[in-house]
Amino acid sequence: MRLCYPLLICLVLTMSSSFIISSKHMWTKMILTHHWPTTFCSMEHCQSNISQWTLHGFWPDGGAFCNSSWHFNSSEIEDLLPDMKTSWPDLFDPLSNEFWKYEWKKHGTCAAKAISLNSQHKYFSKALNLYHTLDLDSILKKFSITPSPQYYNFSYIEGVIENFYHVKPKIQCGQSTKNDSFQVLGQIELCFNSSFALMDCEKPVSTESVPDRGWDYTMNVDKGSGLSMCNPDVPVYYPPVE
Ligand SMILES: *[C@@H]1O[C@H](CO)[C@@H](O)[C@H](O)[C@H]1NC(C)=O
Ligand SMILES: *[C@@H]1O[C@H](CO)[C@@H](O)[C@H](O)[C@H]1NC(C)=O
Ligand SMILES: *[C@@H]1O[C@H](CO)[C@@H](O)[C@H](O)[C@H]1NC(C)=O
Ligand SMILES: *[C@@H]1O[C@H](CO)[C@@H](O)[C@H](O)[C@H]1NC(C)=O
Ligand SMILES: *[C@@H]1O[C@H](CO)[C@@H](O)[C@H](O)[C@H]1NC(C)=O
Ligand SMILES: *[C@@H]1O[C@H](CO)[C@@H](O)[C@H](O)[C@H]1NC(C)=O
Repeated sequence: MRLCYPLLICLVLTMSSSFIISSKHMWTKMILTHHWPTTFCSMEHCQSNISQWTLHGFWPDGGAFCNSSWHFNSSEIEDLLPDMKTSWPDLFDPLSNEFWKYEWKKHGTCAAKAISLNSQHKYFSKALNLYHTLDLDSILKKFSITPSPQYYNFSYIEGVIENFYHVKPKIQCGQSTKNDSFQVLGQIELCFNSSFALMDCEKPVSTESVPDRGWDYTMNVDKGSGLSMCNPDVPVYYPPVE
């Protein structure tokens, strides 16, 4: 009888810790986030003349800041740096590594729970590879979605992306503080499963990921703050480079 209590406690502890481990264990979805530099800079007060969709991040759906002792080291991605500078630029300071360092610390160290992404080289090269394969910038142009003083119908933009990639993207807009009759196209996310096949961004993947869903919010307040899901009923402004 005396042994029963420690045993019970032991059992309960084992069960709860395995639950925590399983919910934090591995991501089930990687989110490749593109942003439009003009919109980003109008919200964050930077200056950019870049007229292509660039990478904001490559985010796992579970966890953030998973390993504080795993430091970003640009020597490990030396061969990727020319591509990083054009495809994943730091819009605050094009000569700085700070953005990559932050993305690695916050998201890369969690993505690295998968063998496929368990080094800085694997993580950054996979993101670049998917970014080039998707070629979102060309797809938008191909379907005549280009920066313009005119407004777009949100469902047209969403439809083009969805029909082309056959999955649901997540599209975020900035709200104009001065004028709520339009919204500004800001960020486009496309999602991948752990085999790096495209999947719907909103699709719940498994019950295990539910405890981590709050991270979606944290992700949105990454550097591209002030964005929210576009309102399908409000015209979309896709701002040209100033
Ligand atoms: C963009 O600005 C950079 C310096 O900030 C300059 O070197 C570059 O030539 C500009 N590019 C274009 C297309 O204007
Ligand atoms: C964290 O990163 C360090 C340095 O790369 C590594 O030695 C350690 O095993 C990692 N810890 C975990 C829990 O992955
Ligand atoms: C950075 O990576 C390079 C190449 O892998 C390695 O030689 C160097 O020791 C690393 N630096 C640090 C501070 O870990
Ligand atoms: C915009 O999309 C809506 C569907 O959400 C459609 O009913 C409407 O006709 C579209 N407007 C234009 C101008 O294409
Ligand atoms: C808001 O934007 C719309 C569309 O560009 C424009 O017609 C309207 O005059 C603007 N309103 C204000 C208060 O700036
Ligand atoms: C990822 O999606 C592809 C295509 O839908 C599927 O064949 C593959 O089994 C999926 N991988 C995982 C790990 O779910």
